Amino acid sequence: MKRLIPCLVASLLATAAAAQTVKIGVINTFTGPQAVFGEMTDRAFKLYYKLHEKELGGVKLEFLSRDDGGPNPDKARQLAQELVVRDRVQLLAGVAFTPNAMAIAPVATEAKIPLILTNAGTSIVTTRSPYIARFSFTIWQSCVPLGEWAAKRFKRAYTLVSDYAPGHDAETAFGQGFKAGGGEIVGAVRMPLQNPDFAPYLQRVKDAKPDALMVFIPAGKTATSVMKTFSDLGLAAAGIKLIGPGDITTDEELPNMGDVALGVLTVHHYSAAATRPQNKAFVGAWKKEYGAASTPNFAAAAAWDAMDAIFQVVKAQKGAIDSERTMELLKAYRNPDSPRGPIAIDPETRDIVQNEYLREVRRVDGQLANVEIETVATAVKDGWKELQKKK
Ligand code: PHB
Repeated sequence: MKRLIPCLVASLLATAAAAQTVKIGVINTFTGPQAVFGEMTDRAFKLYYKLHEKELGGVKLEFLSRDDGGPNPDKARQLAQELVVRDRVQLLAGVAFTPNAMAIAPVATEAKIPLILTNAGTSIVTTRSPYIARFSFTIWQSCVPLGEWAAKRFKRAYTLVSDYAPGHDAETAFGQGFKAGGGEIVGAVRMPLQNPDFAPYLQRVKDAKPDALMVFIPAGKTATSVMKTFSDLGLAAAGIKLIGPGDITTDEELPNMGDVALGVLTVHHYSAAATRPQNKAFVGAWKKEYGAASTPNFAAAAAWDAMDAIFQVVKAQKGAIDSERTMELLKAYRNPDSPRGPIAIDPETRDIVQNEYLREVRRVDGQLANVEIETVATAVKDGWKELQKKK
């Protein structure tokens, strides 16, 4: 008995100490052409944590980061299962690609573990588990306003998208906005998601002579390939305007794209060049931590806001994470001062509500930047789910 009591005390102390650490399983893409998603998300999570750690009153966060290697649902599901069953994480976060988020959703449901998305933008994703809250965007959110705006400037548009769920959303949502504004879609082509050769597709576009070409591809190195091929084949010189959601001019790739990106117009919810004071503070803190050559993109902005929400959840529960309470807190999350402007989680859909900005690639202080020209839509909800409600 005498020996048992110290053992019991030690084990109780160990449990108390463990309760003071919240384990977060982060699944993201750290390798391949879209490796930037993993890097941006991790950097944002860690920077927010470093700058705000003291607010947690002694509770610690532990990040368990895992690489899904790109669009790879089987791998993503396996990683989620391991994180939940073996590592006993209390929260899941991250996920760049829609197919991976779709594969993880049933794991989150079964284990009742909240999944805080920092990318994966296909509308349907959040319907796949009541434990998902999305802090990124939906493709519908940017592409309907993009189509509506484009219809005021162009008569004939062509769409070229990656052949998977977000690309299909982009094609449909843009088409809806563009046609509602009186525009005509003269061609809608889908290309393979992985390692596409853009040249034959862009040649077809050139031959069709549209006024504008709307492109959706996942952000990362792929965006630079599209931009360069568009220029090399002379589409800009032929008077075709390249437009799209902000994935095609993702902030961190602008230096690699070079001058061919100048003048490209996009609609998106975040630009590193936004002059809002809270964005300047965010970008300033980022550059101080990671160097002047590193620029946060929309995935970094999503992860920053997601970590702000995780902090609220952890603080409210003093580190003792209950999944149902966490979901209630996430559904009530709002921040009028996010780097991207005012944001909130729609409690009905668990999707983010945010503004959409028209941006143009311009040279600012010698560097290419997505300059926000105009707020084209405010407090935008996911357009696809809004449409389903009307049906
Ligand atoms: C997605 O798979 O949902 C996705 C990936 C990359 C993007 C946007 C959406 O840039």
